[in-house]
Amino acid sequence: MEWKTRVTEMLGIKYPIIQGSYGGFGTSAIAAPVSEAGGLGIITAGALKTPEMLREDIRKARSMTDKPICVNLTVGMCPHIDEMREVAIEEGIPVVETSAFQATDHGKRLKEAGVKWIHKVATVKHAIVAEKQGADAVVIVGMEGVGFKSVDQLPTLTSITWAVKQIKIPVIAAGGIGDARGFLASLAMGAEAAYLGTAFMATKECPISERHKQYLADVDPSDPKLMKKVLAPPNPLDLEKVMKLRGKIPHGEWMMKLERVLLKEDPDADTSFESDEVLKLAPGSLAVSGIDKILTVKELIDSIINSAEDILKSGIFAGIRG
Ligand SMILES: Cc1cc2nc3c(=O)[nH]c(=O)nc-3n(C[C@H](O)[C@H](O)[C@H](O)COP(=O)(O)O)c2cc1C
Repeated sequence: MEWKTRVTEMLGIKYPIIQGSYGGFGTSAIAAPVSEAGGLGIITAGALKTPEMLREDIRKARSMTDKPICVNLTVGMCPHIDEMREVAIEEGIPVVETSAFQATDHGKRLKEAGVKWIHKVATVKHAIVAEKQGADAVVIVGMEGVGFKSVDQLPTLTSITWAVKQIKIPVIAAGGIGDARGFLASLAMGAEAAYLGTAFMATKECPISERHKQYLADVDPSDPKLMKKVLAPPNPLDLEKVMKLRGKIPHGEWMMKLERVLLKEDPDADTSFESDEVLKLAPGSLAVSGIDKILTVKELIDSIINSAEDILKSGIFAGIRG
């Protein structure tokens, strides 16, 4: 079956499946296999630290696949972001994802250079703004997801179905998607691709610890610690403390503190998206409901596509008893 949407057409990819970006470890090691298997892999510029290291990693990805690769620029948190953006353009990256904060200037520059611009947001309100500013597509992450959270986030079901009524550019669904049913549901809600962060972290190629991957395969979405991390509102006192610092400390430092509060950590905690600390800071999302074992990237993508096709062939109501 052909999985054709405006997103697959725009990006030249086989399946409407996009891998999430990851500060600390989102390198070619995970991005290239995702693209090679028919999805869109993302290299997170911030994980490479310097523009030269990003250039090297893009070239490494090129040696691993000739399929399109995306670069993520996490605004406010990616060091040397302007130079990183220029490296992506110079290296012929066809699509860049921006995230975390307002990205209008980056978007304008990318479009001038003929690069497709996807912006990732946590609320429908911000998706509407991104469309007005010229984004070619938006990723909306519902509250089942993890990464940069928002206090105004709605569940994925509500966010996507509400967004597609108001937005003309393609919407990409994220937040809690981990298997074929979640993938199909994304498309049924009107999204034109599904975006998976946690699910690709539990693959053999992802450069995180084996302990972390096993945790993702074993943990229940109802685990109280995980639920708190993903769904609980931030501590109001910590949030107030951080909001008072806005404009008073460097923006990047402030964003890091805000992110920790949104992830229910102490704003001054010394946790990062690097090494095993990631298991503490952002272990994963409610997408663990769809993760049973550690697969290769290709096995994961093939299993999502094959099971989705089986579900469609057997009739989507086959699961209803009565
Ligand atoms: C450990 C970790 C690190 C992340 N780092 C970033 C990042 O640096 N920039 C970004 O835009 N999103 C980041 N994200 C968010 C993911 O790209 C994606 O939006 C999210 O995982 C989607 O939800 P899901 O995990 O339910 O699929 C991160 C997520 C995780 C779990």
